[in-house]
Parts: sequence; C-alpha cells; structure tokens
Amino acid sequence: MTELPGVLTTSEEHRAIPELGGGLPLLGHLLQFQRDPVAMLSRGWRELGDLYRFRLGPRQFVLFSGPEAHDAFFSAPEDQLNAKAVYQFTVPIFGRGVAYDVAPSIMDEQLGFLYPALRDAAMQRFARIMFDETSQLADSLGEEGELDLPTAMNELTVKIASRSLIGQEVRDQVDAGFADAYHDLQKGINTLGFFMPRLPTPAHRSRDRARVQVAELFSRIMTARRRADDCPDDFMQSLMDASYSDGRALSDDEITGILLTVLFAGQHTSAVLATWTGLELLRASPYLARVRDETRAVYGEAGSMSLEGLKQQVTMEHAVRECERLHPPLILLIRKVLNPMRYGDYVVPSGSLAMVSPAVSHRLPHLFADPDRFDPDRFAPPAREDKQHHYSLIGFGGGKHRCMGKHFAEMQVKAIWTVLLDRFDFSLETDFPTPNYGSWVTGPVTPCRLRYRRRSQGRVFG
Ligand code: HEM
Repeated sequence: MTELPGVLTTSEEHRAIPELGGGLPLLGHLLQFQRDPVAMLSRGWRELGDLYRFRLGPRQFVLFSGPEAHDAFFSAPEDQLNAKAVYQFTVPIFGRGVAYDVAPSIMDEQLGFLYPALRDAAMQRFARIMFDETSQLADSLGEEGELDLPTAMNELTVKIASRSLIGQEVRDQVDAGFADAYHDLQKGINTLGFFMPRLPTPAHRSRDRARVQVAELFSRIMTARRRADDCPDDFMQSLMDASYSDGRALSDDEITGILLTVLFAGQHTSAVLATWTGLELLRASPYLARVRDETRAVYGEAGSMSLEGLKQQVTMEHAVRECERLHPPLILLIRKVLNPMRYGDYVVPSGSLAMVSPAVSHRLPHLFADPDRFDPDRFAPPAREDKQHHYSLIGFGGGKHRCMGKHFAEMQVKAIWTVLLDRFDFSLETDFPTPNYGSWVTGPVTPCRLRYRRRSQGRVFG
C-alpha cells in the first residue's frame, strides 16, 4: 500500500478504515487498552492489517503499522499530522515560549541550537562522564548486596544527563534539591494532566512550584557564569551563546525550558532502556560472555573507556538495539490529524488521532524472524534485519520529530553495562518482569531486584 499524496475530492472514492471489533458502547476499547495496550493493538494488526481504527472513549485513533505505513506517518507535514496538539501537557513543565508551546519552525530552531553540542567532540567528553558516573555508582555498592535496578538506573541517568546535557553546576545540585524538583516535575505527567494540564490538583501544584525552583536554579547558574566569564562546553552554554535567526538572544526562561525539554526526552527513556538491557543480558549467559570478551578485546587489561572503544563494541550495541526492539521505552507515538490524510484507498479523517506503536511494529513476524526471541545477532551480517526495510525499527521515532539523542542514549546504555558487568556478577531475584503500561515511559513493573557480587577476576576497569 502506498500513500497517494494530493488533494482530496469526495469521500465516496475511499474505503472505510476497518474498525477493531470488541469495543463497548461509550467506552470503546478503553478497558482492553488500559489492561494491555500492546496485546490489544497487536490483535488489531493480526485481524485487520497495517491500518485500522479503534475508540478510547469518545476519541477515534488510527494505528499505522509496518514500514510503508510508518513512512506515511513520519513524512506527513505538520499541518496534517500534528505533534504540538498532542504534547500540550508538556507546556506547564517545559514552560511558555519553547518546544510544543511555539510554532514547529521555532521549536526546530530551538532544538537546532543543540546539535553542535552532540557532535563527536562533545561525545568524547560525554563518554568519560558516563564512565565516571557509573564507576562512582560501582564504587558505592561494596562487595555484594541487592539493588532495585530501575531505581539505580534512574538515579544514575539523572546524574549523567544533568552533568553532560545541562552543566556541572546542576549535577552538583542533584542531591541538594534538584532531584526532588525534577521528580515533582515528572509527577506532573499523569493521565489527568494529559487531558487537563492546568487543573489545580496537588500534583499539578507541586509541578508548578518545582518549575519555578528549577528556573531560579538555572538562572542563578547562568548569572554566575556571565559574571565569571566562564564558558564550559555544555548544552546550557550553547544556548547562552545562541541567537535566533532574527538576532534575538534566548531569555533565561527559554533556556531553562529547552534544557528541560531535552532532559525529559532523554533521561527517563535512557534509564528504562538501560534497565531492560541489563535484564535481557542477565538471562542470556552465552551472549553476556561474548559481551565481556568484547570488552577485554577492545580495552585490554587496565583499559580506560573512550568514544572510540564504545563504537567498537558492536556485540554490546546489538544487544542494546535488540532491547530497543523488544522493549521500546515509548510504546506509542501520537499525532492529531488536522487535515484528512490519504493512505492507499483510505482517508484518515481530521479530528482523529494517528499513532504508530514501536512495541507492536517491532514484533511483526514478516520484519523480524521469531520476533519474541532476544537475538541480538539478527542485526549482525548476514541477517541485518534492521536494514531490510526503512523504518522497521522505530524506537527512536522517525521523520522530522526523530530523536536527536539516539546516539547519546545508545552510548550511555553501552557505557553503563560495560562498567557494571566488568565489576559485578548479577542475578535477578524474581521472574523476568512484565512491562508496566501505567507509565508514559514503559519500564518493567517494580520493584525489580538484582543481587550482585563484585568480580575478583577478569576485570578490565580496575
Ligand atoms: C533510550 C533513550 C531514548 C529513546 C527511546 C527516545 C525516543 C524518542 C522518540 C521515539 C522520539 C520521537 C517522539 C515522537 O515522534 O513523538 C524522540 C524525540 C526526541 N528525543 Fe529522544 N529518546 C531517547 C533519548 C533521548 C536523549 C538522550 C535526548 C537528548 C539528548 C533526546 C531528545 C529528544 C528530543 C529533543 C526529541 C524531540 C524531537 C522533535 O520533536 O523534533 N532523546 N525520542
């Protein structure tokens, strides 16, 4: 099926989009969706194929699955499939005048200021930060014990992200209030907030107080930098030095908002991917042994981590990609249909919500052999399953809204598990956890405890 661009004429020319069965009056498919959205949406694909519709309460959704449908979804213009309308719940967190509060062209310009700060030269420094922060965590763990993996990955990635993506001064404040304020901002993302982001609930009031605290903290740091004529090489400084195409410099509040946008986009998602990667590696011992062999081969005895080394770790990289496939942190990407969209013989009506689901599409059996199996070698030659179709792997999105931090996130997960697996043997204390669909970012149900014991031999990083 191919998208036929062009002006729409009369509706009689088009076939009705097939509708998923089993919906209830008024509620539609809401209860099934709340129970297990991925099972419900996968059933829809099996029964109806690449394009079908369903209802959640009064809202009609249309799911696009498979490479051709993804291509149509990701290449639709903003005035047809619109992200801004869907992400309005982020405005109280990121703030006015940035990201989804402004026209897409201005958001592009704002995010564009950050691309230079993600180039290889900066990534060298980030690799050292990732290594250093993970080593500090490893040092703090002692000889043996137990930890809750999602909590540990969350705390670690807050430190890595605040230090590398924002600035050292914010990292220094993580334990002195920043983590709490960030947590209150995160709690502002909830189901009610999705529909009514300004409703004065206790969670929303804490969110708004936290937004003020963060703005004050970031503003103090920027003032101190200007006074000291200090120009560290980080995102905050890139934004302080930037100006819009009309020559206007960014205000402190805009800088705060853009930094929060990046932190929200990149931190929890990375924590969740790191968690799933650890869990999958721990139950695949032969593959885990290959990962450790690769670490030794790349870094030698008493090596030190580098961007070059991380790039050479393809065995580890394939494991991370396989976890992106099996456990994409964002299971749904949604757009509001502003103008009717033609797809093959169908027209997706305006007012409905279009979506793709990485979690559903990544397990389509004609794209990935034995799709429920953890098999990182599917990405190695000769299979290279991710290269067989454009947009078969969409855990980092696609098109104009594709993730700007993909490379950073992959490096981070690789660095974290390279250090932790070098220092410790781990075992999962429970059965392999199921996904928690109650959260915007889909991690495992918690708690999810690991036992660890320091390795006495075969270590590379001291
Ligand atoms: C495992 C970690 C990550 C995952 C799974 C992930 C996934 C995604 C996805 C699926 C999108 C597209 C959203 C959509 O189409 O609606 C996206 C966008 C975005 N990501 Fe990431 N991301 C991750 C890490 C990061 C990091 C580390 C950063 C920052 C360095 C980042 C910054 C962004 C930004 C700013 C956008 C919005 C781009 C736009 O709308 O133009 N992400 N990400």
